[in-house]
Amino acid sequence: MKKKILITRKLLRENEEKASKLWDVKLNLNDEVYSQKKLIELSKGFDGILSSLTDKIDEKVINSLPSSIKIISNFAVGFGNIDHEAAKKKNIAVTNTPDVLTDATAEIAMLLILGACRRANEGINHVKKENWKWSADFLIGKQLTGSRLGILGMGRIGRALAKLAKSFGMEIHYRNRSRLSPELEMGAKYHESIKSLFSISDVLSICCPSTKETKDIINKETLEYFPSGAIITNVARGDMIDDEAMIQALVNRKIYAIGLDVYKGEPKIHQGYLNQPTAFILPHLGSATKKTRMAMANLAIDNIDVFFSTGKCKNRIN
Ligand code: GLV
Repeated sequence: MKKKILITRKLLRENEEKASKLWDVKLNLNDEVYSQKKLIELSKGFDGILSSLTDKIDEKVINSLPSSIKIISNFAVGFGNIDHEAAKKKNIAVTNTPDVLTDATAEIAMLLILGACRRANEGINHVKKENWKWSADFLIGKQLTGSRLGILGMGRIGRALAKLAKSFGMEIHYRNRSRLSPELEMGAKYHESIKSLFSISDVLSICCPSTKETKDIINKETLEYFPSGAIITNVARGDMIDDEAMIQALVNRKIYAIGLDVYKGEPKIHQGYLNQPTAFILPHLGSATKKTRMAMANLAIDNIDVFFSTGKCKNRIN
């Protein structure tokens, strides 16, 4: 008998067709974001869940899932939305989709750096209001060439960003849980502490996972470590930034500009960012290319398929 899989959000058509051939699926044709209560109700009678980053699958939800659920395959590389330890205790495998979105996300990380450094938001606002003229000192920004890029989290995305940023002439520095091998480091300078990294970061790119340790890692105290006029960008998760402290630092110009793709409590965005002309902000587009979204969904599907057909588990994180 075909396995029953609950797919919590709409996927690209080709991916939904593939999943429908493999299993008896429940698709989400209206692409509604399910409440926790609805997710629990819908999962009754299912063998697995193909979830998305918008599903908050915390301990309470895990403990309320029917015992028929054996796997949660998250359609994302990040898995901060799932309490994977609680899932492990219930013998539910949790998987993610690494590698396939590395390049697309590194491109957006680069776009955030460029947009924030070169005042893209202010430029767009002027153009839309048709109130600009070229002049020698109009919207003077910060040039990337020769500036120091601090990368917080030198995993796959951090390393892909390092390559791109190097080609823009940036000097690469990083902080990671552990130092990389020289082949992976590729000349980037390792820092033993965030204080050391932040204090030399003309530009910071946050590329680390959301964990208890990284929550609010950018806060009132750590913002003081940065050189005056630094730029901060975040392509990982909104959890890493204390928004009030960040907005205050933008208002008092300690931080020159920010580039954000992710937010605490998204899709809501703190009004302070919306009011700040120096905030270059995007709606969580990191992996949003057809090639990458197709590959991510295929991998999320494959993770379930391998699990049920071989008993082995690919890309398991718990
Ligand atoms: C996107 O944000 C992801 O984690 O895949």
